[in-house]
Amino acid sequence: RLGDAARGAEIFGQCRGCHEIGPGARHRIGPHLNEIFGRRAGALEAFPYSKGMSRAFADGLVWDYARLDAYLENPRALVSGTRMSFRGLKDAQDRHDVLAYLRDFTAS
Ligand code: HEM
Repeated sequence: RLGDAARGAEIFGQCRGCHEIGPGARHRIGPHLNEIFGRRAGALEAFPYSKGMSRAFADGLVWDYARLDAYLENPRALVSGTRMSFRGLKDAQDRHDVLAYLRDFTAS
């Protein structure tokens, strides 16, 4: 593994204002992030994604490691028109760590 999930849990503090993860997680300002790895972008029912994210879904974008890494570095560069107003994690190790944390909530 490239990342440290325990450190990633702390970095996820930058996401928690908008996202829940873990047992019972619900949609907030952003969608819940359980089972994110391997899922198509913008795929959850009952979350009002932006047109940009809906287009990414239609185009077949899948959240593999490299795509998540790119989205977290610069959300709008990967998904034009995304409503996720987050400046991005510019440090590669920070992204690896938060991705290790997210992976703990993907079963497969
Ligand atoms: C979408 C991760 C920070 C609001 C997403 C998605 C991921 C993600 C993976 C795509 C979900 C999907 O396709 O179902 C993260 C992580 C963050 C973070 C790891 C911290 C490092 C934030 C913050 C906000 C936010 C701070 C609010 C200011 C949203 C919204 C969407 C979204 C509104 C839906 C985007 C759209 O429909 O275009 N986030 N996020 N996120 N996030 Fe975040």
